[in-house]
Amino acid sequence: MTSSKKKLVREGDSLQKIFEYNTLPIPYYSMNNGHAICSDSLPILKKIKDNSVNLILTSPPFALTRKKEYGNKSAEEYVEWFTTFATEFKRILTENGSFVLDLGSAYLPGFPIKSIYQYELLIHLCNKLNFYLAQDFFHYNPSRLPSPAEWVTVRRIRVKDSVNVVWWLSKNPHPKADNKKILKPYSASMKLLLKNGYKAKLRPSGHDISQNFSKNNNGAIPPNLLELANTESNSQYLRLCKKHGLKPHPARFPKDFATFFINFLTDEDDIVLDPFAGSNTTGYAAEILNRKWLSIEIRKDYLEGSKFRFKDQQDLFASKRSA
Ligand SMILES: C[S@@+](CC[C@H](N)C(=O)[O-])C[C@H]1O[C@@H](n2cnc3c(N)ncnc32)[C@H](O)[C@@H]1O
Repeated sequence: MTSSKKKLVREGDSLQKIFEYNTLPIPYYSMNNGHAICSDSLPILKKIKDNSVNLILTSPPFALTRKKEYGNKSAEEYVEWFTTFATEFKRILTENGSFVLDLGSAYLPGFPIKSIYQYELLIHLCNKLNFYLAQDFFHYNPSRLPSPAEWVTVRRIRVKDSVNVVWWLSKNPHPKADNKKILKPYSASMKLLLKNGYKAKLRPSGHDISQNFSKNNNGAIPPNLLELANTESNSQYLRLCKKHGLKPHPARFPKDFATFFINFLTDEDDIVLDPFAGSNTTGYAAEILNRKWLSIEIRKDYLEGSKFRFKDQQDLFASKRSA
């Protein structure tokens, strides 16, 4: 083992937990709770131990009509391409682990017709790779711009797309999850009801609302519609990217999106992996929530920018460098 590798192997470190010593990858940068690796994720995934990762949380390149700068696959190729990665995801997830997949939608080139690739992929993952659909989520971004312009703003024959589907998949029907960790503040009317009490009665729908309804559970159970705008226009990440002349990543998910699933599906010290890390939103959320993390991104410029997210965090070797 080289000395740079030896330095990484700390008791409980994410690398030590999921790789054999002789296959340790060299990180691009490291923080207290995790590491970012600059590489195609497939060869790295192949080296990760079986049943070792608690949560895979990712937003892969989508099958878009117009190719984004980082090279998206067409809808037709997509399922086949993704299966090579998903086979490894299934192998490396713990038995009660979760795989959360955020997917944008796509129009067929030249037509006002939507691709059904997200649904084809879901069916393939469940029927062929034997994942379970623990729950479907919908990630609603109210500030999404209208597109494709041809159908939405020029011909005005479609409305704007503002929802990504999110498939929460698992290896068995009972993945680790606790909705008490992601409660929302009560609405004003619920707060009033808790204060004034509730008279048990049968609803017009036939639901029997019992006295338990007025029990204070410290917050409301969230729905599977996640309304999260990407409103980080003032963030340290964007400010520092601009200052250093780096283009921010064009398809980041909001930090609250990552925070929601990490809190819901993992405990402290569990391992969170993002194999298509982009600006490393997942790693950043995991670092703050004290989860061990590993993020893999093929483009160096995206990882270089992602370091700005961690500016206020203590990095793993900071004390050694300044000593
Ligand atoms: C939709 S973006 C992820 C954005 C991320 N969730 C964020 O919040 O910044 C998908 C990323 O996958 C990366 N990517 C594509 N193919 C890859 C591969 N084979 N291995 C690693 N990363 C890859 C792209 O460069 C891109 O940054």
